[in-house]
Amino acid sequence: MLVTKYVFQPHGDERGQLVALEEHKDIPFEIKRVYYMYQTGEGVRRGYHAHKSLEQILICIHGTCKVLLDDGREKKVVPLEKPYEGLYVSNAMWREMFDFSPDAVLMVLASEFYDESDYIRNYDEFLEYIKTHGDSSANEGA
Ligand code: TYD
Repeated sequence: MLVTKYVFQPHGDERGQLVALEEHKDIPFEIKRVYYMYQTGEGVRRGYHAHKSLEQILICIHGTCKVLLDDGREKKVVPLEKPYEGLYVSNAMWREMFDFSPDAVLMVLASEFYDESDYIRNYDEFLEYIKTHGDSSANEGA
């Protein structure tokens, strides 16, 4: 499984750092939605789903967390520890987020509006989806 981590360009000067993200330039899709998680409780593990078509970039803009990626054949744990790093998560990819530091803010840029029908929340269903939709969808964009 290929893990795609983007390293964004920080525009730093004596005042501090600034990162700018533009769709189809720094981000490989149209950004239709942004959401973020913060004040995540100690020991919390969340996510536990895949998407049929949604693509995302996860950026831990403050603090740290870890992301488990699982394409149905292989699992990888990716630490997110820098505000200028983004993890690309393709469609048809099971994800779990965990090990949030108390100060963690995990921001997600998403290619689609919120749509519950795009979610696969059952792991066995996910494995079935991978089988019926082939490898191409699991590796798209990676
Ligand atoms: P949930 O899907 O449980 O988060 P995750 O699975 O990523 O840990 O989302 C928590 C709640 O927030 C749930 O009630 C749905 C709502 N929600 C929205 O309304 N819009 C969104 O874009 C997202 C991601 C969640």
